[in-house]
Amino acid sequence: METELESMERTLSKLFAICAADEVLEGEIKGAQLPDGTRIALYNLNGAYYATADTCTHEAASLSEEGMVDDASVVCGWHLCGFEIASGAAIASPCSEPLMTYPVRVIEGVLHVEH
Ligand code: FES
Repeated sequence: METELESMERTLSKLFAICAADEVLEGEIKGAQLPDGTRIALYNLNGAYYATADTCTHEAASLSEEGMVDDASVVCGWHLCGFEIASGAAIASPCSEPLMTYPVRVIEGVLHVEH
């Protein structure tokens, strides 16, 4: 049976340091890349950090390059579909597939993404 420490170590081993948390500005979308090449988009909503896939599920626009934050959602600039940032849920047509989301932790001022 896994101990609490082993569980924590297993979880921490999947955390990747991405950037200083203060590089992710409120209302903006910062593009980043995980070690395996996966492109992600980072958000700061009133001091709470989130990460989603960077690629729109409709026609592959980069949300960090073409998207905009609207309250708690991200709107894709290509065809204006929307996703709830926290859950990745598609909330506006023409998108129906949700965005992948990734847990985010800030450790000593550094934003880490679990993958
Ligand atoms: S590519 Fe994002 S809405 Fe079409």
